[in-house]
Amino acid sequence: MSKYHIQGLEEYFQVYRTSVDHPEKFWEQIADEHFSWQKRWDSVLNWDFTKPEVTWFAGAQLNITENCIDRHLATRGDKTAILFEPNDPNDPAEHITYTQLHKRVCAFANVLKDQGIQKGDRVCIYLPMIPELAISVLACARIGAIHSVVFAGFSATALSTRINDASCKMVITSDGSFRGSKTIDLKGIVDEALDQCPSIQSVLVARRTHTDIQMKEGRDHWLQPLLDKAATDCPIEVMDAEDPLFILYTSGSTGQPKGMVHTTAGYMVYSAYTFKNVFQYQEDDVYWCTADIGWITGHSYIVYGPLLNGATTVMYEGVPAYPDWGRFWQIVAQHKITQFYTAPTAIRALAKENLDFVEAYDLSSLKVLGTVGEPINEEAWHWYNDNIGKKQSPIVDTWWQTETGGIMISPIPFATPTIPTFATLPLPGIQPALMDEHGKEIHGNQVEGRLCIKFPWPSMARTIWGNHQRYKETYFSAFAKMYFTGDGALRDATGYYRITGRVDDVIIVSGHNLGTAPIEDAVNEHPAVAESAIVGFPHDIKGNALYGYVILKETGETRNHNNLRKEINQVITEKIGPIAKLDKIQFTTGLPKTRSGKIMRRILRKIASKDTSNLGDTSTLLNPEVVEEIIENALV
Ligand code: WT7
Repeated sequence: MSKYHIQGLEEYFQVYRTSVDHPEKFWEQIADEHFSWQKRWDSVLNWDFTKPEVTWFAGAQLNITENCIDRHLATRGDKTAILFEPNDPNDPAEHITYTQLHKRVCAFANVLKDQGIQKGDRVCIYLPMIPELAISVLACARIGAIHSVVFAGFSATALSTRINDASCKMVITSDGSFRGSKTIDLKGIVDEALDQCPSIQSVLVARRTHTDIQMKEGRDHWLQPLLDKAATDCPIEVMDAEDPLFILYTSGSTGQPKGMVHTTAGYMVYSAYTFKNVFQYQEDDVYWCTADIGWITGHSYIVYGPLLNGATTVMYEGVPAYPDWGRFWQIVAQHKITQFYTAPTAIRALAKENLDFVEAYDLSSLKVLGTVGEPINEEAWHWYNDNIGKKQSPIVDTWWQTETGGIMISPIPFATPTIPTFATLPLPGIQPALMDEHGKEIHGNQVEGRLCIKFPWPSMARTIWGNHQRYKETYFSAFAKMYFTGDGALRDATGYYRITGRVDDVIIVSGHNLGTAPIEDAVNEHPAVAESAIVGFPHDIKGNALYGYVILKETGETRNHNNLRKEINQVITEKIGPIAKLDKIQFTTGLPKTRSGKIMRRILRKIASKDTSNLGDTSTLLNPEVVEEIIENALV
């Protein structure tokens, strides 16, 4: 019985048992049977959560792109690896076969080498969802450069912070990007960012929008002429199992984003294994994940996981509403998509529109539907199940994180019975634990607590770039010898998990992970602002929206409050990006604080959510009187 592909509930339980009883044997067999290695490992797993230190397949040597591309050339050379669907529905889709992908990745890798990029160097990729994005990721991996993809919706300030944190040597970008009917001046954003980035030596620019842009002599190079001259074969760089593959930033409880470091072998094994099982990918399937490669979902389940399995993976450049709200379904029908993976926020937005947009298209190719990024509410789940899956396609509600590298808790379609709002059962190798507030594990079923993982899995992030101490404090200090996820969860009578949401200062807005601290830092930069506190409140489409409480420096501030609100959101857009804009801004004279000076966000959250009947214990507040004022002026 091959453990690589699970095909029923009984089999899942058996495999899960083996993975917990004999984790090293379990992962070793998968690693042996499904990947190419330049050298086999000396040990499967070494770990110590107190340091914390984890290695998988130590001593092994490999290159992940050999496994993503070269390994398939003999059997799948003419198969489409990447199917690119452009923003404009009138432009033709592009089918990139495995043979063509090999050539394009090799040529790109040679360009990187010509530009002086070597193994271990960091390369920042700031590109829209065009083939060059996936190709540049793979080109970095081929030569052992560490890619740091920054989502192309981030602002110049956010981009420069990330470039500087990892001392990147190069930026790969494009002249501009298309998003629906808009054209965005990406290169202009890069130019602005690079005023603050001394480590950058060169910039490669892909042509997409043909926008008129500035090219800085000696620093900026058009990509295509360099590719045209490059050889289309490039030997792999032989990497150690634990060499970093990429850095990907996620927000945290301080202003500085955390550069999560993922390493080579464990990430490869786990992203491939989970892709195969969670999506039940079959040879002729056409798989589409609507995420952006700028997020972990795109890294693991647009690029690496699918290609490691020799799959056809769709990259869509545009947005769900262009040219109209039927676009997703038109793409599903046109390319006969078999697996469709998206975010609850997108489902809620689509569900608000007329059903004619769905019914105009033949969705009968669909076999599996997926969601990721935030809890899915029951209504959205049913809309998805009824109208997209026609009650025939199981929905996999996949819980995981940038830090986990791969899906952790999810149904296995056609095996695990699904229930709306439940991510259901841990995948093989994943050992969840629910913890109480005293740091003790809560055993048994029908319990709720903080979600931890008590045993290492191959694709866990190994550190925060340049700050191992912060890694330890953030993930391994709340509970002894446990990885703490930051989420709350409950386990029902059958052992199914339901993720209840963040229990820390992270708010998930439209599936994007936003820390309150960086947004507060941005708001406080407005010259009129003295102090601020940001909380989330429930929102029909976005899941959560942001509510800001702002104290102005001068109480007699004469400027129009609505203008101030616009200005504050402008600062946020500049410092972080439009995704972090506040939906509501309430001006107040004070914030509820404890005697130690900590803002009581619990109270602010309740007020923003119109839930003021029971504010809990306010006796420890330094300034209880301010709560009345805030409730009176609340924007609800
Ligand atoms: C946080 C991680 C992992 C891909 C995208 C987000 C929330 C993620 C689910 C789900 C409930 C979910 C959690 C998690 N989350 N998936 N299926 N059900 N919540 O990655 O930006 O690192 O965010 O997203 O709160 O901790 P991320």
